[in-house]
Amino acid sequence: MNFKEITEKRRSINFFDSQRDVSEETLIEIVDMAAKTPSSFNLQPWNLMVLREPEAKEKLRKLAWDQPKVTEAPVVLIVLADKKGWADGNPVFEKNWNQMLDSGGMTKDQRGWFLEATQSLYNWSSDANLAFAAKNAGFFAMSLMYAATEVGLETHPMDGFDHEAVKKAFNIPDNFWIPLLLAVGYKKPDLELHPPKWRKSYKEIVVSFKE
Ligand SMILES: Cc1cc2nc3c(=O)[nH]c(=O)nc-3n(C[C@H](O)[C@H](O)[C@H](O)COP(=O)(O)O)c2cc1C
Repeated sequence: MNFKEITEKRRSINFFDSQRDVSEETLIEIVDMAAKTPSSFNLQPWNLMVLREPEAKEKLRKLAWDQPKVTEAPVVLIVLADKKGWADGNPVFEKNWNQMLDSGGMTKDQRGWFLEATQSLYNWSSDANLAFAAKNAGFFAMSLMYAATEVGLETHPMDGFDHEAVKKAFNIPDNFWIPLLLAVGYKKPDLELHPPKWRKSYKEIVVSFKE
């Protein structure tokens, strides 16, 4: 499938085949593809919780508008966005820093500059923390949906859930925000899809503002 075909094939599927599992190998394959997603300073502030157990999915469904796909899909991912992924001492921040040193992209004396840059961009307000986390994790989630399409899987992103209740029920630490849940699996056999939904045209997307 070329990319144009992938963008046409990907649909948010409401009914999954609960009898058809997604292998661990396939899940790793799509996550590895999505991991190529670009991110601010390559900080990659995303994580996933993988739910396969019926009890865990049942618990999530109760907090997610009782959406049947949460229990029907063999895999449901809780996408996590790290609001503190830019901070001094954050393990990914530090790994990234060391990688930059090793590759020669930065020198030790630039650490102060780097800390100041990430602070000033991502820590001037709690909105900035959230925007940093959400935009990067959102890009990652989109890559994951396209990667899933590429290997023949179907997905459904969801923000119809009680954010605070899900955090509590799954012991998710406070540095994380949950941009979406993602159901992953195969389409229920013989499922007829509605025609694709409308999209804004180029003309509707492009705007300009008078001075
Ligand atoms: C962030 C996000 C959250 C969404 N949340 C839900 C949801 O909770 N329940 C649902 O049925 N659809 C949800 N959707 C699916 C959208 O309704 C769907 O993507 C849109 O109507 C376009 O349809 P398509 O994905 O099939 O092209 C969500 C989509 C996104 C991107």
